[in-house]
Amino acid sequence: MKFVRFLMKNAALANVPKHIDHFSKFSPSPLSMKQFLDFGSTNACEKTSFAFLRQELPVRLSNIMKELNLLPDRLLTTPSVQLVQRWYIQSLMEILDFLDKSPDDHSVLQSFVESLETIRNRHNDVVPTMAQGVIEYKDTFGQDPVTSQNIQYFLDRFYMSRISIRMLINQHTLVFDGNTNPAHPNTIGCIDSLCDVTEVIRDAFESAKMLCEQYYLGAPELELRVMNCKQSRDPIQITYIPSHLYHMLFELFKNAMRATIETHEVSHNLPPIRVMVALGGEDLSIKVMDRGGGVPLRKIETLFSYMYSTAPRPDFGDNHRAPLVSDTHTSTYITSQNLKPHRRHTYD
Ligand SMILES: Nc1ncnc2c1ncn2[C@@H]1O[C@H](COP(=O)(O)OP(=O)(O)OP(=O)(O)O)[C@@H](O)[C@H]1O
Ligand SMILES: [Mg+2]
Repeated sequence: MKFVRFLMKNAALANVPKHIDHFSKFSPSPLSMKQFLDFGSTNACEKTSFAFLRQELPVRLSNIMKELNLLPDRLLTTPSVQLVQRWYIQSLMEILDFLDKSPDDHSVLQSFVESLETIRNRHNDVVPTMAQGVIEYKDTFGQDPVTSQNIQYFLDRFYMSRISIRMLINQHTLVFDGNTNPAHPNTIGCIDSLCDVTEVIRDAFESAKMLCEQYYLGAPELELRVMNCKQSRDPIQITYIPSHLYHMLFELFKNAMRATIETHEVSHNLPPIRVMVALGGEDLSIKVMDRGGGVPLRKIETLFSYMYSTAPRPDFGDNHRAPLVSDTHTSTYITSQNLKPHRRHTYD
């Protein structure tokens, strides 16, 4: 029996390049937040979503796997990038299993949700693993501007694709898991039509502050100003994905805190981090200001490079974490587990 399974798995693996070629010929179907909301709010049909995703997810996975294959060989063959590639292949195969299944069978729909959850979990560590691969490559072969630019271009697209795939998976699993979120009855999947912006700011700040205190034994305070063009005292609520807002702010706050502390090491008074939220007629702006010394104009462009950091890099698996940065300097992922208990909401 084991042998039969082994043969079948190998046969399926052998067909993977063919599937990638086939599905990568299609372009991903763009979906707006409004489309997600419209679909999720009016008697969302699980069968329709299933039929859409079993085609759309392979399209998105295959497109990005094609791009992954174009990376320089010496990067593609690092153990970390190989691992990421295996995760993508495995996930693609698992979704393809549903191509010939009937949407009318309830057990199929149920096992589809389970597969999506497995896939989402499998890909949890893609960001640090990919970053580890890039670091291995750079440490071994050094870096030249052309390759760096190619890697930057690829990573932008790769991470964007990953966000979109996770968004699709989350919407399906959350909308069809049969539960509403009691803390946020207005959420449709992971989109909150009444996302309380200042609450998310405070949560992200508290998480960063907790890390900062652990590392530096102190942290700057938050000074929050809210401006609502409607002259209203009501909380600012927008339609948004709270977890995305949270993660962006969390990264900015960690940066601001490290800069503040390192610039004011000798002083007992840490200048606060000031945040201004302004809701205009059309847009919402969030401005984060710190007194951490800033960044010279000459280096501004470099800030957006995945590989730029002025923080010391700890070894992977080292217990002594670098100050408020992730092991691979590509946005924090590791610490989110430790941060959960004190948060009012989860932002996974
Ligand atoms: N508010 C700030 N004040 C001063 N320097 C900053 C600020 N924010 C970022 N920087 C500089 O930009 C660099 C890159 O920031 P970025 O957040 O991308 O990486 P990091 O904080 O070093 O690591 P991680 O990716 O884990 O966040 C930092 O190392 C720091 O030198
Ligand atoms: Mg940072």
